[in-house]
Amino acid sequence: MELSDSTLQRRHFLIQAGSLLGIGIAAAAIPGLITSCQQNESPVNTGVKKEVDISQYPELQNDFGAVKISFTGLNENMPVIIIRKSAGNFLVLSSKCTHEGCMVDDPDTSAKTISCPCHGSKYSELDGSVINGPAQSSLKQIPSSFDTATNILTITL
Ligand code: FES
Repeated sequence: MELSDSTLQRRHFLIQAGSLLGIGIAAAAIPGLITSCQQNESPVNTGVKKEVDISQYPELQNDFGAVKISFTGLNENMPVIIIRKSAGNFLVLSSKCTHEGCMVDDPDTSAKTISCPCHGSKYSELDGSVINGPAQSSLKQIPSSFDTATNILTITL
């Protein structure tokens, strides 16, 4: 079958228009995808293990004592909060507020809460859960294991 010049021109026009329409739709969708990724971003656990000698921290010799420790380049460069729940039982939380990412304060060990100075969110020191918003989700719990023989807490960041 032979196509006339006008048919070829029309076909060429339709192909180009379709391509431009496709590019337009993709361009419109990509910023939305990027925005949605940024809003739902959660701290990445890299699997890097760090050892902390608990005997070096007087704060961790009593129940609900807590310390903030930084590990450069890990946990999005935010310190972790180590909380002693009981002898040999530790909870490790990220200090990154789940609202807009500010660093939360040191735990109030008498009230057993952790506050965020930016917009007033309050978390439980017992498990990192939200007590008061605007934060909607708990502080990130970071896996850890404690060796009673060596007094070493291994944190997986
Ligand atoms: S960033 Fe913590 S309450 Fe908003």
